Amino acid sequence: MANVVIIGAQWGDEGKGKVVDIYTQFADDVVRFQGGNNAGHTLVVGDEKVILHLIPSGILHAGKRCVIGNGVVLDPEVFIREITNLKAAGYLKDDSALILSESLHLIMPYHKRIDLAREAKSGHKKIGTTGRGIGPAYEDKTGRRGIRLMDLLDPKAFARKLKDALEEKNLILEHLLGDKPFTFEEIYDEYMVYAETLRIYAADTSLLLHQDMKAGKKLLFEGAQGTLLDIDHGTYPFVTSSSTCAGGACTGTGVSPREIHEVIGISKAYATRVGSGPFPTELEDETGDALRNAGREFGSTTGRPRRCGWFDAVVARYAVRVNGLSGIALTKLDVLSGLEAVKICTGYTFEGKVLDEIPAQLEVIEKCRPIYEEMPGWEGDITTAKSLDELPENARNYINRVEELCGAPIVLVSVGPRRDETIILRNPFEG
Ligand code: GDP
Ligand code: IMO
Ligand code: MG
Repeated sequence: MANVVIIGAQWGDEGKGKVVDIYTQFADDVVRFQGGNNAGHTLVVGDEKVILHLIPSGILHAGKRCVIGNGVVLDPEVFIREITNLKAAGYLKDDSALILSESLHLIMPYHKRIDLAREAKSGHKKIGTTGRGIGPAYEDKTGRRGIRLMDLLDPKAFARKLKDALEEKNLILEHLLGDKPFTFEEIYDEYMVYAETLRIYAADTSLLLHQDMKAGKKLLFEGAQGTLLDIDHGTYPFVTSSSTCAGGACTGTGVSPREIHEVIGISKAYATRVGSGPFPTELEDETGDALRNAGREFGSTTGRPRRCGWFDAVVARYAVRVNGLSGIALTKLDVLSGLEAVKICTGYTFEGKVLDEIPAQLEVIEKCRPIYEEMPGWEGDITTAKSLDELPENARNYINRVEELCGAPIVLVSVGPRRDETIILRNPFEG
């Protein structure tokens, strides 16, 4: 019996969707615990590519329970579109396989408009958000004025809360942001239609997960975004608005930390970031372009080109520390094939001093220069490798050095986007 948390160990897009899809075969329940449809998790099954924004990546496996926990902010329109598309593609044949926490907070139309209007006004200070209303929805949650799924299912409560919300949001939209206000009716009518679809999925998911654990079922928690985008532990303010680190799996589901047995961090064999904010190993040159092209580094949610750079062991060690990683899944190793040399950042210099931990102050991280260790690269297509022995020696040396510098064992190596392009070294569900 093991419950496993999967989180991004960098700035998101590490390949969490692929790894969760692989691990789902060993689990019974797959649970999202934070974020919303700012996430874009890509799964490749045969020749088919599926991008999921909200629904757990376990959904492609029949017979598994997929749960969206209380820590997620849910846009009903996107949720309904996603289930419709999944059903059209032959998945989600049984609606009872998908469950929404009745306590999760809803993303409302004004959250999206405020997110976009604020970004448009912020000029060079903009975060580069996905524009999905994530930050404003979490602000309302923390400000104790959010609207939850249970409110939507009670038309009177929903009407009261929406009326109160609009009094404030329309002032913000019209007078602070110079944007259009909403009428009560347009939102109420739209959301009452959503309520009828959502009703069958709503439940007390904390209770349900406890009952499943008691019955000996195994839980897989699917993180979104990544450690450096965490509201507390990321490169604030260039972060998302939720707890993307392992601790978020407990607050975002109502499952105790004592029930978590393994935490696996997903990390690319290099690094990417989408949106603004510091990125010490960023390559704004041909090598960066080569990584972007070889790794097809364009956002699954917004299509934006991702910023690319070398693997940063300082960031990886930090992720090991703040998440208590018991293992690392190293993805996209195949993307590095064909490079004459590969570099790993082992520390930073700042004003003549060497730093081996990531500094907390944004102004300092922004000025950090990476210290690199260079290793010889390797040639050829490695996507068919089924074990480490089948990899070129230099690729194996690279994996070993990454493991040594991070301080956590590598438990999986991904050598391509497909399910069968995966080398499992240790199965965290078997301890
Ligand atoms: P997530 O947000 O962490 O789930 O990651 P994304 O899906 O946004 O981005 C990862 C991208 O890399 C997706 O297009 C995956 O299909 C792809 N991918 C995952 N693992 C590998 C791998 O080992 N090699 C290659 N070439 N692509 C991969
Ligand atoms: P997955 O789950 C990469 C980034 C945005 C922006 C910042 C804040 O696919 O790894 P937000 O819309 O959340 O307020 O934007 O966070 N961001 C992501 N970057 N992968 C993601 O998700 C992200 N979700 C948000 O680009 O910089
Ligand atoms: Mg993604």
